[in-house]
Amino acid sequence: MSATAPAGKGVSCRNLVKEYGGGDSRVLALRGVDLDIAPGELTLLVGPSGCGKTTLISILAGTLNPTSGEVSVLGVDLNRLSKRERTAFRAKNVGFVFQQFNLLPALTAAENVAVPLVINGVSRGTALARAVEVLKSVGLAERVGSLPSQLSGGQQQRVAIARALVHRPRVLVADEPTSAVDARTGQAVMELIRAVALQPDRVAVVVTHDPRVFGFADRIIELEDGRVAASRHADHGAGVPQPAPA
Ligand SMILES: Nc1ncnc2c1ncn2[C@@H]1O[C@H](COP(=O)(O)OP(=O)(O)OP(=O)(O)O)[C@@H](O)[C@H]1O
Ligand SMILES: [Mg+2]
Repeated sequence: MSATAPAGKGVSCRNLVKEYGGGDSRVLALRGVDLDIAPGELTLLVGPSGCGKTTLISILAGTLNPTSGEVSVLGVDLNRLSKRERTAFRAKNVGFVFQQFNLLPALTAAENVAVPLVINGVSRGTALARAVEVLKSVGLAERVGSLPSQLSGGQQQRVAIARALVHRPRVLVADEPTSAVDARTGQAVMELIRAVALQPDRVAVVVTHDPRVFGFADRIIELEDGRVAASRHADHGAGVPQPAPA
């Protein structure tokens, strides 16, 4: 099977189960998740700590294998890809904002952001120029040459967001992307993510505990103890959704 994704497809999970460890330390993180996520919508994933949010988006992003169940992303059945095909699929199609940012400590902000482009064969000069553009869009024009250790938590988070967006992925998953930033920056971050999400061939799933973010959602999925407990579409009326008051 090829790693090329057909257009117009979202994400679909059937009876997804994830078990960590074994014996006494066995943890059942996902207990049979059935879920369809449409492209062109901003989908939020909410739920208490430990309910399986990071586990679920890691499986959707192809960075974690489920114990059992099916997962199809952009019409591609991830279980049927070889390890190498899955890596290629991820590099081309997926942007991931990690909960712990996962920046490379020896690389500058611009070099970190350029990584997904370089992996996809873009020349270093072009990749760095595009990285600087995206860093500007998250308000970090002045810090492109800084190492992660020289940046505040909120600045590191914005570098992580820029890195996830730089190759214009068709699937964006973001794990608490506003947890370290102030209200105004959080709004700018969500506007950027929303601009990606609203394109009809793109999928965006954002994990959040941040009520300021809820107003940006088209759909909110609640996870509880490894299962989907509820799912609802937001009623935006005809207007552009506004963030909830802080
Ligand atoms: N690598 C791992 N090994 C063992 N157990 C794990 C591992 N990763 C997660 N777990 C467990 O799986 C469950 C789900 O974890 P997960 O990280 O998906 O939760 P979460 O909803 O993202 O929580 P939070 O809101 O705190 O980030 C938790 O009970 C967690 O302890
Ligand atoms: Mg988590």
